[in-house]
Amino acid sequence: MRKIVFTFLMLASISAFAQKFDGLALTPPMGWNSWNTFATNVDENLIKSVADAMIMNGMWDAGYIYIVIDDGWEAMQRDSLGNIFPDPKRFPHGMKALGNYLHAHGFKFGIHNCAGTETCSGFPGGRGHEYQDARTYASWGVDYLKYDWCNHGTANAEETYKTMRDALYHAGRPVVFSICEWGTNEPWIWGPEIGHLWRTTGDITDCYDCQGVYSMGWKYILDKEAELTQYAGPDHWNDPDMLEVGNKGLTLAESRAHFTLWCMLAAPLMAGNDVRNMPEEIRDILTNKEVVAIDQDSLGKQGFRYMDQIGKQIWAKELSNGAWAICVFNSSTDPFKIRIDWNSLPFLKGTYSIRDIWHKQNLSTTASSFIEDIQSRDVVLLRLTPVK
Ligand code: GLA
Repeated sequence: MRKIVFTFLMLASISAFAQKFDGLALTPPMGWNSWNTFATNVDENLIKSVADAMIMNGMWDAGYIYIVIDDGWEAMQRDSLGNIFPDPKRFPHGMKALGNYLHAHGFKFGIHNCAGTETCSGFPGGRGHEYQDARTYASWGVDYLKYDWCNHGTANAEETYKTMRDALYHAGRPVVFSICEWGTNEPWIWGPEIGHLWRTTGDITDCYDCQGVYSMGWKYILDKEAELTQYAGPDHWNDPDMLEVGNKGLTLAESRAHFTLWCMLAAPLMAGNDVRNMPEEIRDILTNKEVVAIDQDSLGKQGFRYMDQIGKQIWAKELSNGAWAICVFNSSTDPFKIRIDWNSLPFLKGTYSIRDIWHKQNLSTTASSFIEDIQSRDVVLLRLTPVK
């Protein structure tokens, strides 16, 4: 009898066991998300044309492989059995067919839904349907779930996200789980066990330093990230929100600085512009492989803000093989000349060769000072490699 009870308990605990799928985001996820440009105006033709464009314009090749359909893909109600399904007019061939299209073109398939009763735009949310939805997503071939936090009532964030994590695990298809809880309940504390990335703030919008009720320019998000450096690492990233690079509220310099600093933060790189139709200079920013390599460095360390003076910041990111990325950011309205005396940076050890990444130039070494002009709201990005 005792043996039977023991076996039963063992089986019960094995079947209850769940965790996040390990190892799916050893470097920050990269891709494209529909929200920043298209809001709820999503349909299968848009998604397919984005995938086609990303192959043609070099984004896929640069590493942007997740295509995530944000809010608004759902029909307004679940079916009579409680199943979630896409709006049949906008997704006439269904999500499995769309997932097949993305997979056949080398992409991974991402989708958005919400931990509350409804999404932020009023479509059916996942609350109370977590296991059912996870099975549905697995049957569609979903590889990435962004799970939002609108209409959550009195629910506890950690428990709610844990429920969806467990549901995904039991559905059996490995899924990157993106916790979109806006930093309200400090997800950097409990998030690493539950998801692969967690949003740290309200929504980004396409401006440098504007501030709305729920949204803000990238400058404010950057300040928040400076406090959270220690929480990021392989498979568990701070998510300062999707990119606004190329969107109309940013100048070219502001787009370049935004992208560079997101790479210094080891941020997930989810492009949020219309990649089917972007100027060459924007494509060159998003697809610069040397800059992307700083974001994707295998050491997986988020950069830290070493110096923060009015109008002037220096960020540093430790890279693999003893290298460093250094970013000088001119946050003022005027150009200035930066001078760095390398022996004043205490974390550097010995001499390094210097590459100016945006200017695509190899400079001398850290044996002599670095001096360069930086335009307003622009950056200089340097890669330091130890000299043997
Ligand atoms: C929230 C999220 C956004 C986006 C919208 C969709 O605001 O933070 O990133 O997903 O919902 O409604």
